[in-house]
Amino acid sequence: MNEDAKTCEADPSCGVKSAKDPANATDFEKKHTPVIKAPDIVKKGEFFAVTVEVGKVVPHPNEPGHFIQWIELYSGHTFLARADLTPAMTDSVATFSVRLDHLHPLRAVARCNLHGAWVGTIDLKE
Ligand SMILES: [Fe+2]
Repeated sequence: MNEDAKTCEADPSCGVKSAKDPANATDFEKKHTPVIKAPDIVKKGEFFAVTVEVGKVVPHPNEPGHFIQWIELYSGHTFLARADLTPAMTDSVATFSVRLDHLHPLRAVARCNLHGAWVGTIDLKE
């Protein structure tokens, strides 16, 4: 193995990142981790709104050289929706209307063009 190779942890193009200690996340982790907002209680089979925001806690840059490229939403490992974003002209926030028959944790993945893909998760209650 090449000793100069970056570790996956240090390589933004490798894997999906998350805060190592969510209760004590760094500002770098906070600015990249998607924050999911959904109702406290949802009903199976009925639409509800899910908003995903990146840079909510600590603002993330939004300029051509550094921005959030896309936001995806999953129910567990099932893909639900995706928003492609344009630097400066769109904010790094997306709202989706979602209807689920099975409640798994909602996962949002967002990709920064410089710092890779990051995941945020919330549990749903019925
Ligand atoms: Fe970034």
